[in-house]
Amino acid sequence: MNITRGRTAATLTHDQLLAAAAPYAGVTLDVGAGDGAWAYRYAAAHPDRYVIALDPVRENMREWSAKAARKPEKGGLPNITFAVASIEAPPDELRAIADEIFVTLPWGSLMRGIILADDAVLGAIASFARPAASIRIVLNTRIFDDPVPLDVRDLPEVTPDYARESVAPAFARHDIRIEESRWMDADEVAAIGTTWAKRLSHRSPPRSVLVRGVRD
Ligand SMILES: C[S@@+](CC[C@H](N)C(=O)[O-])C[C@H]1O[C@@H](n2cnc3c(N)ncnc32)[C@H](O)[C@@H]1O
Repeated sequence: MNITRGRTAATLTHDQLLAAAAPYAGVTLDVGAGDGAWAYRYAAAHPDRYVIALDPVRENMREWSAKAARKPEKGGLPNITFAVASIEAPPDELRAIADEIFVTLPWGSLMRGIILADDAVLGAIASFARPAASIRIVLNTRIFDDPVPLDVRDLPEVTPDYARESVAPAFARHDIRIEESRWMDADEVAAIGTTWAKRLSHRSPPRSVLVRGVRD
């Protein structure tokens, strides 16, 4: 699996990843992690967990992956790695690795794949999950400034009912049971704490949809 540490590209084998995660009580995977700031803070706040931030855009993770690689007294963290990968080509190393999966305010083909219940995208998310893993997805199709990218213009409007009726059955085919699908209010969006959630909460955002599930 390709990983990044600041400006340095590296790889992590399956055995290396398992060894790195072994001392921890569980593994958290942040899919579409963006700059990785949230994953970094989550790892700092949960020293008993191993955190994997996954995003295809290496440069965006430069700052926080560099910080994590420093000495502990300079903000270094032993319990996080930054994987450079897209949901279309999920690293084999991540198969059944996580007991906690977050997808927060995705865009592009990750968002599209979830909203359109694309089998490959939902299957890839499901493939990361260990039995009983929790999955939390926050969707908001209006995070884009004008011009709205072409690939999201034709998407159906995401509502809790839409997610329940159209996305949940597709997740069920991958053994993910959607337990909750509901609107989040602005305070809840602000409390998510990712870079994009903070950006959104500076405006008066349209509400986001929380979709929460568990791997059977
Ligand atoms: C709006 S940003 C949100 C980032 C972060 N979760 C946050 O809340 O700050 C959307 C992220 O989705 C990622 N993304 C888009 N398509 C993806 C794909 N096919 N696979 C994985 N990540 C993808 C982008 O690279 C981007 O970092």
